[in-house]
Amino acid sequence: MSDIKKVIIDKKTDLNPIWIMRQAGRYLPEFREIRKQNPNFINLCLNKELAAEITLQPIKRFDLDAAIIFSDILMLPYGLNQKVEFKKDFGPLLGELNLNNISKVYDIDFIQRILPVYKAINIVSNHQLTNNKSTIGFVGAPWTLLVYMINQQSPKKRLKEDFFKDEFLINRILLIIEKFLKIHIKNQIDNGADVIQIFDSWAGLLEEKDLPNYIYTPTLNLVDYVKSLNIPVICFPREIKNYKEFCEIVKPDAVNIDYNIDPKKIIKDIKIPIQGGLDPKILLTDKATLKKETIKYLEIFKDHPYVFNLGHGVLPETNPEMVKHLVGTVKDYK
Ligand code: CP3
Repeated sequence: MSDIKKVIIDKKTDLNPIWIMRQAGRYLPEFREIRKQNPNFINLCLNKELAAEITLQPIKRFDLDAAIIFSDILMLPYGLNQKVEFKKDFGPLLGELNLNNISKVYDIDFIQRILPVYKAINIVSNHQLTNNKSTIGFVGAPWTLLVYMINQQSPKKRLKEDFFKDEFLINRILLIIEKFLKIHIKNQIDNGADVIQIFDSWAGLLEEKDLPNYIYTPTLNLVDYVKSLNIPVICFPREIKNYKEFCEIVKPDAVNIDYNIDPKKIIKDIKIPIQGGLDPKILLTDKATLKKETIKYLEIFKDHPYVFNLGHGVLPETNPEMVKHLVGTVKDYK
């Protein structure tokens, strides 16, 4: 069993496993090199050999405890035939969402459209570089996917004015998303993913009164589904107004915290294993500051099952040397 699973399942506190969100990405020159030759991001995710190679790039460089598959949460709308593009210096841009069209998508066609993602997971999980390490599969949470599918781009601070106008439509879409997320999760697990992370990057956009309908209920359904397959599930409801209530209702096996959360407070509120927290901007400072901040998290969580990670993805301008220093600091900590 990987150290990450020992922490999450056996609640071990004497291990300090680490992986980093967006560890396969633009801060690595070897990624940028491949990316330059592959201007279409979706096609790159659908190239099983290159997706597997990119996934393994950070594993070759650093002593990380997991590989997270190089893919994107927006492969789900792509699989449902909604147009998805990634524009340079803009981010994702989606086509119009048509309920009629997405209601007619067959399971088998969805799987066929994104099959290379599963093949890449298969390559990675069987690769010798991931021996004794976890292969993390992931999905976007229903709420965050709904946001992208309706808003058609990153909402930044705000949703479209009339986002909630048609509640019937929204609830229908949520059910379709949930159905295909289960298919997507099952196929990742069948191909070797041994941990699932659910990214709810836009959980912070909702007021507390809307959390049960848009986050708790649909995420609980997914969490229960992953648990029924005997695979641990980590949730990351980024900037959610109430982490404590989220954990009590949704009951993931572990929760990733964002960098605005006070780790000393959260440890009193939450009993389940915790992951993450360190502000990715700390990696842009200097080695001494990075070490100090890293040890701060390790000290606070020394008697709590804890997987080291950041409070959001590693920034593209990060120097890989700083990532090496971070991993070394975590691994040397006793
Ligand atoms: O973590 C990893 O290394 C695995 C790969 C991964 C990517 N995206 C690759 C990627 C994962 C886990 C994701 C998740 C993802 N994708 C989330 C949830 C986490 C988060 O960041 O909040 C979200 C919201 C997306 C949607 C998305 N994909 C956005 C908003 C963008 C553009 C912004 C950005 O950071 O560039 C992407 C593109 C994307 N996904 C890149 C990578 C490496 C950059 C692509 C490039 O080279 O231009």
